[in-house]
Amino acid sequence: MFRVAIITSSDSGYRGEREDKSGPVIRNIVEENRYEVVYTVLLPDEKDLISAEMKKICDENIADLILTTGGTGFSPRDCMPEATLAIGEKIVPGIPEAMRAYSMQFTKRAMLSRAAAVIRKSTLIINLPGSPKAVTECLEYIITELHHGLEILNEKTSNCARK
Ligand code: MTE
Repeated sequence: MFRVAIITSSDSGYRGEREDKSGPVIRNIVEENRYEVVYTVLLPDEKDLISAEMKKICDENIADLILTTGGTGFSPRDCMPEATLAIGEKIVPGIPEAMRAYSMQFTKRAMLSRAAAVIRKSTLIINLPGSPKAVTECLEYIITELHHGLEILNEKTSNCARK
């Protein structure tokens, strides 16, 4: 069973002015797919703070997968992709590409998502959008393939053959 950490970034959520609805949505979807949520945190839109949290989770091997929500749009304070890329050792362009391509059927504004995905040590980090609806659409689309990626990352399989 792979371990998941969920990072929500939201200034208003951090100040207690807005309820974090997307973090719990992520939890439900991953648990339905037999992942274990081991860590959740709500942070303000501060790049260095978010990077430090990600770095800790990866370097102390706290989780195999970090899913983030919020901070991927055009708001001046949005900094999730920058925080992610700052500590990533390898970029994983295909996952955000797939999410954007799939999401275009729901809204052409999906092209405004700046989401990134990276690998640091043996942890995969994926930025999801901020709204519960967008999170559901994106995560349900990609989750079926994540298990295989995590198995390769953790050297549990090297076999990519598909039926
Ligand atoms: N992706 C999906 N699947 N569904 C959506 O409704 N909304 C988009 C986009 N991706 C959306 C989506 C919008 S309106 C924006 S501005 C960007 O994600 C960035 O979202 P964020 O700032 O909430 O992270």
